[in-house]
Amino acid sequence: MRVVNLADAGDIAIREAAALLVEGFAEHWPEAWPDLDAARRSVDEALSGGRICRAAVGDDGNVLGWSAAEPLYNGNVWELTVLVVRPTLQRQGIGRALVTDMEERVRERGGLTIWLGSDDEDDMTSLAGVDLFPDPLEHLARIKDRKGHPFEFYRKMGFSIAGVLPDANGLGKPDIFLAKSVARR
Ligand SMILES: CC(C)(COP(=O)(O)OP(=O)(O)OC[C@H]1O[C@@H](n2cnc3c(N)ncnc32)[C@H](O)[C@@H]1OP(=O)(O)O)[C@@H](O)C(=O)NCCC(=O)NCCS
Repeated sequence: MRVVNLADAGDIAIREAAALLVEGFAEHWPEAWPDLDAARRSVDEALSGGRICRAAVGDDGNVLGWSAAEPLYNGNVWELTVLVVRPTLQRQGIGRALVTDMEERVRERGGLTIWLGSDDEDDMTSLAGVDLFPDPLEHLARIKDRKGHPFEFYRKMGFSIAGVLPDANGLGKPDIFLAKSVARR
């Protein structure tokens, strides 16, 4: 497996990347990319100027997973807008390879922090289905995973939980923020 620019991987790879968004988010985030048209729009956006868009490609050229990021705060922060691995290939190190690669790509552009929001729309954590006010940070300090929410994956990648936006996706459906420093200190 190697990680390459999705833009250089060809039209078939770009179509596979769109299909992966639908497939990869169907179980826990079905509203995120309900169909190929919506997914293709997001892929095109990820490939547009100034962003980073990388694909993990197998020996046969198939896309195994992909990632995208866009600059915020004058490029000090890069938001990881997409990270997905083919469901049948998860837990084999592909997500780790994509995150490690993204850290390098952000660092070489002078970025200091990678940031992302990871929604909980499917009762995946202890933050779902409860009123997080008046002290969201207290709930956040005691967060527990219920069914494989990706926040634990990001923590293994060295990310810190950096916040929560209550009710971001409807009552009791928060967005969980994670961030990691890639600064050379
Ligand atoms: C999250 C995702 C990208 C992880 O990719 P992956 O290829 O399965 O991850 P890796 O195999 O590289 O895992 C790296 C480590 O994290 C662990 N891990 C992976 N997913 C995990 C999860 N959901 N919960 C807890 N740990 C997890 C692995 O076991 C491994 O641990 P280890 O280093 O102790 O062996 C993948 O599950 C995915 O595409 N999910 C659906 C889409 C999604 O949630 N994207 C993120 C949106 S914010």
